[in-house]
Amino acid sequence: ITTIGYSPFGSGSGKSIKLPPELRTLAKEKNISTHQLMLAWVLRHGDVLTIPRSGEASHMAENIAAVDVTFSPDELALFD
Ligand SMILES: NC(=O)c1ccc[n+]([C@@H]2O[C@H](COP(=O)([O-])OP(=O)(O)OC[C@H]3O[C@@H](n4cnc5c(N)ncnc54)[C@H](OP(=O)(O)O)[C@@H]3O)[C@@H](O)[C@H]2O)c1
Repeated sequence: ITTIGYSPFGSGSGKSIKLPPELRTLAKEKNISTHQLMLAWVLRHGDVLTIPRSGEASHMAENIAAVDVTFSPDELALFD
């Protein structure tokens, strides 16, 4: 059974989602945006999909690229 995560950014540009400093730092270290970080985490198992909405071509490209982001066990522990 595949689960779909609707509204991965909370339907409000993602600004209402307060990421802790450790995860902001992780995004910087991985040279990705915090939106890509959030999407990559949702997609990390391969059995959860998500359907972000964007009206910005650059955001769409960024979101598609998040599919290729992977995490080490230590990085995943930061999310936990
Ligand atoms: N059928 C249902 O019951 C149901 C319920 C909920 C949602 N949905 C669908 O699920 C999808 C989710 O859309 P949603 O609007 O709810 O929520 P969302 O995808 O969580 O958030 C959309 C917001 O995130 C911004 N965004 C997207 N990518 C970004 C990026 N890389 N960097 C910065 N901002 C970014 C968008 O702005 P920009 O446009 O500026 O990129 C927009 O403001 C939609 O297709 C919606 O129709 C369906």
